[in-house]
Amino acid sequence: MKTLVVMNEKGGVGKTNIVAHAGWFFAEHHRTLVVDLDQQANLSTTLGAYLSPVETVDLFAEPTRVPPLGSLTVTRSTRELLGVEGVDRACIEVFRDSLKANGDDYDVCVVDTPPALTNRTFGALLAADAVIAPIGINDYSIQGIAELLRAIKGVSTHYGRPEPLFLGLLPSIYDRKSKRERELFEDLAGQAGKLLFPGVIAKRDAYAKAASDGEPVWMMKGSGAREAATEIRGVFGTVSERMGLGA
Ligand SMILES: Nc1ncnc2c1ncn2[C@@H]1O[C@H](COP(=O)(O)OP(=O)(O)O)[C@@H](O)[C@H]1O
Ligand SMILES: [Mg+2]
Repeated sequence: MKTLVVMNEKGGVGKTNIVAHAGWFFAEHHRTLVVDLDQQANLSTTLGAYLSPVETVDLFAEPTRVPPLGSLTVTRSTRELLGVEGVDRACIEVFRDSLKANGDDYDVCVVDTPPALTNRTFGALLAADAVIAPIGINDYSIQGIAELLRAIKGVSTHYGRPEPLFLGLLPSIYDRKSKRERELFEDLAGQAGKLLFPGVIAKRDAYAKAASDGEPVWMMKGSGAREAATEIRGVFGTVSERMGLGA
């Protein structure tokens, strides 16, 4: 099983949108597990049709298996997740061991993280084979990005494991119609070009609709949804390739 972690300590940058679509996408060809680590549970709502009775918080208590329900299985977020943010850091390794315990039942695991660098995010990073970081162009800050890269490195160093593959910064609600965003994007490409994922996800109504309707943009009608589908499937095609997932 290959684990992809979608992280950024900022909220509202499009993490959950990407994880939901990644789940739908990978489940077309792979046995897919999706883990909702954010107590706000937006992902558990959008992917409500695929919820396991196993709660994500269980994965921090002891190594826990999540029996597959079909090609897509989601562990649900609950407010109890906040409880793992106490002082005991042992739960970080328990979470990693839980994902390991599911290695034979799934081909891919996608993890949605809360907007904070806390035990849950560290657990995800410890279990990660690859990490992608959705970013907003509006509130782009070099400082935030440096912090994020430090966290990825720091967790690996602390636990003595190889660093996960960093797939890049992915502008995820990019408003091409905004001159300011276009300018900021060019600045970003100039300053951190090597860190950028080769692709963007534009700001489109279809994504917001996908979140509330619980279906991917490629199931929707209309030219906006079609463009969104081409764009986001292209992103996951690249992710698959770089993670060695095959078709
Ligand atoms: N590309 C996009 N275009 C338009 N709306 C988007 C896009 N990506 C996400 N959204 C919407 O923006 C809000 C925040 O996105 P979300 O994925 O929940 O971010 P995060 O998980 O980083 O907090 C949600 O209402 C979501 O539906
Ligand atoms: Mg989210």
